[in-house]
Amino acid sequence: MNTYDARRMEDILRPMGYTSVATPDTADMVILNTCHIREKATDKVFSDLGRIREHKLEQEKNGHQMIVAVAGCVAQAEGDVILKRAKYVDMVFGPQTYHQLPEMLAKVTGAYGSARIINTDFPVEEKFDFLPQENAVTGATAFLSIQEGCDKFCTFCVVPYTRGSEYSRNAASIIAEAKRLAANGARDITLLGQNVNGFHGEGLDGKTWGLGRLIRELADIEDVKRIRYTTSHPCDVQDDLIEAHRDVPKLMPYLHLPVQSGSNKILKAMNRKHEIETYLETIEKFKSVQPDIALSSDFIIGFPGETDDDFEATYDLVKKIGFTAAFSFKYSARPGTPAANMQNLVREDVKDARLQRLQSLLFEQALNYNQSFIGKTVEVLFDGRQSREGQLHGRTRYNTAIHAVANDRLYGQVMDVIVESAGQMALHGRVKTEGN
Ligand code: 5AD
Ligand code: SF4
Repeated sequence: MNTYDARRMEDILRPMGYTSVATPDTADMVILNTCHIREKATDKVFSDLGRIREHKLEQEKNGHQMIVAVAGCVAQAEGDVILKRAKYVDMVFGPQTYHQLPEMLAKVTGAYGSARIINTDFPVEEKFDFLPQENAVTGATAFLSIQEGCDKFCTFCVVPYTRGSEYSRNAASIIAEAKRLAANGARDITLLGQNVNGFHGEGLDGKTWGLGRLIRELADIEDVKRIRYTTSHPCDVQDDLIEAHRDVPKLMPYLHLPVQSGSNKILKAMNRKHEIETYLETIEKFKSVQPDIALSSDFIIGFPGETDDDFEATYDLVKKIGFTAAFSFKYSARPGTPAANMQNLVREDVKDARLQRLQSLLFEQALNYNQSFIGKTVEVLFDGRQSREGQLHGRTRYNTAIHAVANDRLYGQVMDVIVESAGQMALHGRVKTEGN
């Protein structure tokens, strides 16, 4: 979502004469778009800021101004600390205020007298109604934010505090954006939301639409060849989404459904509102309509109170389900969240050992899955040019990355590719059709 937000910031700034550059050294403005989800991501902000300060001082020596801004969820959560700690930061603004960038910039650059800005409001107006039409050139794959914020309040998570409460855009504006993305070259669109399957936006008929209904409508856009969505919550899987997986060929057989832990005790302490049994049932529903669906998940290891048995339950769940890809993290206490005050913390070395064990299993599963494609033909949408000439990067229907020997003119197209080898992260192959 930060990638999407950064693009939208570009859209707002372009008419003001800004354009994005490759390095920050001589930029007129640097915006750090930040993530607060784990401590590591937050720490990075301050080290990055230190480096940007050097560039700013250098620019000032040469008589140039460099505006330094911190955006995103760290700005939302720790804005005042940033302004106090980093005197050279000119602007701090949260993820719900970036549509106000022109006014904020005017204040900083002196049009109304120069001032440092902090803007961490949750404005009553919705930013999507105030953003200009996106006008950046898109690649063959594009993100489209359809829902933001979260009301679930998992005890470890900052999102409800930094992104605010759940909001769904209306279908008309989403469809219009998808059409423009397609006209600009996007073929594979990933619908985004912190709780994307909780989507309940106003439909074209004035009724409330769920995610499945929205997907059906988006599938009618001819140039959109593939549709994905992320991230889903196990409690919000509606029948219309399952039916869309059954009926809509453009909806890819890929599901990222975070489970976080395999222990019901830990799920309860996390306030996940689902149990392992219901999670398994939900997965079965998807499999019953799309048997080849690729499953991916998120895991938190070492949540307060996690015993060896709880961890074994997570390990067993992974063995049982078999994920094709996954993200696993050590629990990181986040200020202001209920879990940050919990007792029975897990020792760091224990967390490390558990994470390592789980990750070797996940890596093994990913490798086995990828190797199962060797010798087979897969449908690939080419979405990236490689540094090696004569090769393109693409994705299979299952979201697996693939590097293939392919002519550059196949960029943006869906082609049959024969898989020749496979690693844990990606497949390798060549385009099937003769003459390409
Ligand atoms: N510590 C570790 N991982 C976290 N996540 C969210 N909050 C934390 C935290 N405090 C992980 C969850 C979530 C993913 C986006 O980040 O697994 O699904
Ligand atoms: Fe955070 Fe996801 Fe839980 Fe919402 S559902 S609080 S975004 S982990």
